[in-house]
Amino acid sequence: MRSVSIVGIGQVPVEKSSAANLRQLGASVVQMAMDDAGVEEVDALFASNMLADELQGQKHVAALIADEAGLIGIEALQVQAATASGAAALRMAHLAVGSGEADVAVVVGAEKMSEGVAAPALSKALDAEREVADGATLISKNADLMRMYMERYDVSEDVFTNFPVIAHRNAKHNPNAIFRDMSMSPRKIRGSRFVHAPLRLLHCSPICDGAAAVILAPSEEARAYTPHPVQILASSVSTDRFRVKDRKDPLWLEAAHDSVQAAFRQANINREEISFFEVHDAFSIMACLLMEAVGFAEPGEGWQLAADKRIGIRGEIPIATMGGLKARGHPIGATALYQTCEIVLQLTERAGKNQVQNATLGMMQSVGAAATTVITHILGI
Ligand code: COA
Repeated sequence: MRSVSIVGIGQVPVEKSSAANLRQLGASVVQMAMDDAGVEEVDALFASNMLADELQGQKHVAALIADEAGLIGIEALQVQAATASGAAALRMAHLAVGSGEADVAVVVGAEKMSEGVAAPALSKALDAEREVADGATLISKNADLMRMYMERYDVSEDVFTNFPVIAHRNAKHNPNAIFRDMSMSPRKIRGSRFVHAPLRLLHCSPICDGAAAVILAPSEEARAYTPHPVQILASSVSTDRFRVKDRKDPLWLEAAHDSVQAAFRQANINREEISFFEVHDAFSIMACLLMEAVGFAEPGEGWQLAADKRIGIRGEIPIATMGGLKARGHPIGATALYQTCEIVLQLTERAGKNQVQNATLGMMQSVGAAATTVITHILGI
């Protein structure tokens, strides 16, 4: 494998409902990323989308976006891993460029959740026969995990409060965040309604539309495209038992642990060297469990990182530095590409008021369903 770098990025603001349709969203960020890298052609396009076949009645999204972007004739493939699809597409593009199969590849994530009813379509990431048939949803699974956590460690729901508070604070300075204008407080979170007890609305990421894209090229040629290349140092995917119920310990996210350990080995770094972590904070409980699985906290103590505000921009391990899934938004298939763009901005000191000082290594994780699939990427300069 040759080393691969990100040489261009493109993202549009996450919105509750975008005026653009899916193909326009996808093509617009492809064009932005290509302009950023100064390229007029790419060899391959890898697309990520989870819900279009359900919500827009549209499959074959990669070729659709390639056509709309004027990239006629190139390899264009869609990559699927439920709510981790964006990271799966990034990984496939990384392998394509790393292997020499492609020289320049674009990875695009686009999702329009505002059309139709997203919740049942999202639930299809779970076991259709053994979970969804009994009424399970991604929300109910995360509510179960939260209840189990509160019972086992004898903590109240309030211990999770600073995950959304800090995410919303960071989103204020991100022009692409859906909740730029929404201030958050412990009282407001406590007062929001239960979507599935003990999970409240303000501990969830929103239903939204968005798209983001990045361009990959061999690292040795990266500076020909951009003065700001960022190298992909690790890309790793692990899976757990499909159903939470079948896992030895539901509160231990084995796939997150395995995937991050493999990523550290690939990048040849230690956890302590990570400058910031774009965590998959689709729900506060998921952020908490990931902090533990990754090793930033002991089991049962992930919430303390938030309670002590050690996850803030100037904290020990900043997370969700541009608002995270909670407050930048989680337009599913696009999310990991937003995370990638944000890490690139951080590592190249273009993150404005949210800049993490002296950032050299950024890590991101993407979670498919209730951590059945977990994909870790580490980027560095
Ligand atoms: N965080 C903050 N505010 C939110 C929000 C969220 N997650 N979701 C909705 N809101 C706000 C809306 O902006 C709206 O405010 P407004 O009245 O000022 O416009 C208000 O709350 C009500 O919004 P509404 O769209 O009616 O909420 P809803 O009940 O339809 O949806 C959830 C709320 C939490 C159920 C929905 O966002 C959801 O399903 N989230 C999880 C999505 C998911 O599972 N993603 C995959 C995870 S891996």
